[in-house]
Amino acid sequence: MRILITGVRGKTGSALADRLAPRDDVELWGGSSDPALVDHDRVVPVELSWDRPEGWARATDGVDAVFVVVPLREDAPDLVASFLATTPASTHVVLLSERDPEQSGSEGWSARVERAVRESGRSWTMVRPGWFMQVLTDPRFFGEQIAEGRFAFPHPDARMAWIDTRDIAEVAELALTDERHVGQTYELSGPEAVPPARTAARLSAALGRTVRYTDPGTEGSLEGLSGFERDLTALTYERVRAGHFALVTDTVSRLTGHPARSLERFVADAA
Ligand SMILES: NC(=O)c1ccc[n+]([C@@H]2O[C@H](COP(=O)([O-])OP(=O)(O)OC[C@H]3O[C@@H](n4cnc5c(N)ncnc54)[C@H](OP(=O)(O)O)[C@@H]3O)[C@@H](O)[C@H]2O)c1
Repeated sequence: MRILITGVRGKTGSALADRLAPRDDVELWGGSSDPALVDHDRVVPVELSWDRPEGWARATDGVDAVFVVVPLREDAPDLVASFLATTPASTHVVLLSERDPEQSGSEGWSARVERAVRESGRSWTMVRPGWFMQVLTDPRFFGEQIAEGRFAFPHPDARMAWIDTRDIAEVAELALTDERHVGQTYELSGPEAVPPARTAARLSAALGRTVRYTDPGTEGSLEGLSGFERDLTALTYERVRAGHFALVTDTVSRLTGHPARSLERFVADAA
């Protein structure tokens, strides 16, 4: 079967490519706005830019299933609807959605993306993970500060059930390749919910050096962001404070047959 991953260079897309690319029954297409940067073994690079709709039909030609990584843009609900209209009618869509989509983004932004998928006429599976462990190493998020020995995160009392994107990828692989997951919505989390100071302690222990927790306050945590991304992040941190990301589910172990990966395991493997 032919499977397209829309964000193959990202934290989830690359983990999913690691699982799907070695399979002999899958022809894997990896979408990127710059396909020359896709260098994953056994992945066919395809141009897929949310800014260039004229290329979408070529990227979705003959696909049986697509993993959709939602762009962080206000018009994502419309973009996803238009993009899915270019896929064959029999395509199965697995959406990388969000925890509590009605409250994610202004005016139910994530819920509107989910609605676009449900109303696409394609079969679907919704995957709703909490925060990814991989933001702790991604230089576009916390990677640099943690490398420097600090972890600045607002709301010291808020617990987070960090999830490893490799667990999301395992669930996505099942959803893309096994029709028993059609019409299902999966709430995914890591194995436990910990406050940020404990996250820093776990990182320190696993790295063998001190990662100090600091509370940057709400404003500090939004530094450098602007526009839609700033508003979305501000709302997300509000949801962090309200405990939306503390939910621990057994979905990963139920579907994959193994417990969700721990922070310690993530750090050890990343090192
Ligand atoms: N982060 C979380 O904790 C979290 C939690 C729940 C849901 N989500 C949702 O997950 C989605 C994001 O997924 P993700 O975190 O897997 O994607 P990501 O790592 O943010 O990557 C998304 C895209 O960014 C581009 N990119 C730019 N610079 C890059 C670089 N240096 N390395 C890799 N990619 C780069 C790539 O597209 P090009 O190849 O076109 O450049 C890539 O596909 C969002 O819709 C978000 O709302 C995130």
